[in-house]
Amino acid sequence: MSRRFYVETYGCQMNAYDSQVMAGGLERAGWEPAACPEEADLVLVNTCAVREHAERRVLGRLSQLAALRRRRERPLVLGVVGCMAQRLGADLVAATGGCVDLVVGPDQYDRLPDLAAAAAARGEALICTERDHGAVYRAKPRTAPPGGSHFVAVMRGCDNYCAYCVVPYTRGRERSKPWRQVRDEVADLAARGAFEVVLLGQSVSNYRDGDVDLAGLLERLHDIPGLQSLRFLTSYPTDASERLLRTVAALPKVGTELHLPFQAGSDRILAAMNRRYTVAEYEAVLDRARGLIPDALFTTDIIVGFPGETEADFAGTLSVVERQGFASAFTFKYSARAGTRAARLPDDVPRPVKEERLARLNALQSRKTRELLESQLERTLEIVLDEPSKKRETQLRGRSRNNLRVIVDRAPGLRLGVRVRARINAIAGTTLIGTLAGEA
Ligand code: 5AD
Ligand code: SF4
Repeated sequence: MSRRFYVETYGCQMNAYDSQVMAGGLERAGWEPAACPEEADLVLVNTCAVREHAERRVLGRLSQLAALRRRRERPLVLGVVGCMAQRLGADLVAATGGCVDLVVGPDQYDRLPDLAAAAAARGEALICTERDHGAVYRAKPRTAPPGGSHFVAVMRGCDNYCAYCVVPYTRGRERSKPWRQVRDEVADLAARGAFEVVLLGQSVSNYRDGDVDLAGLLERLHDIPGLQSLRFLTSYPTDASERLLRTVAALPKVGTELHLPFQAGSDRILAAMNRRYTVAEYEAVLDRARGLIPDALFTTDIIVGFPGETEADFAGTLSVVERQGFASAFTFKYSARAGTRAARLPDDVPRPVKEERLARLNALQSRKTRELLESQLERTLEIVLDEPSKKRETQLRGRSRNNLRVIVDRAPGLRLGVRVRARINAIAGTTLIGTLAGEA
């Protein structure tokens, strides 16, 4: 009987992509996907190290999987991959009471089939966290995840060294995938039914292959047959050049919702975070983008309770959110990460204060999201239908170019990947409800 694997994914979109890379590699080496950990001979947990909370969840999950391994007669190889594997290496074996057989960092996924076989044969844990600055991968699993929207990593690593962030240490130096390789990967996905591709990089606005930058890459991908929508994340705000913004505006399939993390609304805290901009410079980027891209929307990431953050600093964060009206924001309590520059600073904002600031920030952002959705009522939006509605069989969901989610009723001839017009007449949660107003 063939060997079976199961991959469980935590963390960011890059990890979701990497899980596909690993699945493809294992399948090419003769492994079969299993439907659940119970049926697998190899379970890989793809981990995130960005906050302590993420690591604690993984440790909890590993102890459940260790119990499964003990319970069962058939051998189970338990592997930890991803950012936490890279960060902790052999320490993970001790941290999990010796239940881990395999620890593989993000630069070694090509070797995973061999490493998994070796780990199965061996009595002690196998640790493989060497760096390889050349590693760029291609995801090609036999059973791609369902749906028409797919991630494609175009860059790996990060050289920004924000003071709070572990990513430069776990994912290594910045590197770009050659543009022809990206084009082949996207064309292949489109030929297999993908109608949206989301280009990924920790700092994707720095993409460069020779003289091809991110704008040049978007131009080279835009006309691939079958593709309806092209998005990218995450941009370092001040690296979003005028050339990039003009290209986004000019290419109609490129999404006009930009993810531009600002992290904090205080110049003093931004400097302590080693972010290379002031609040005014950040807001100038959004102003420039709004001037060049009609209907541009923005999403962002914000950290509360960075070391030394005062109530006045936090008020600055609230006022950026109030002024800018982000479509949505990912908000986090600061979590000290060993080895980063900020870990040397006292983590001096008490937990209840972090929690209270986070709650105020989230309440404000919810109000701003609501206001944005209300401003869409009575408008007609062009949307690409992208998935069945989660709530009702008789409905489909679509997304506008600036990534607003719109539900419409199914109608004859409508299918996923089709572009239609919808008149907005209601709001349900964070989704708009529309009625069809014809093909686009
Ligand atoms: N603590 C809290 N949030 C963090 N992020 C990154 N590192 C930390 C940390 N140590 C957040 C940032 C980043 C997002 C992916 O995670 O906002 O943009
Ligand atoms: Fe993704 Fe960063 Fe978490 Fe690694 S540490 S999984 S790169 S979010």
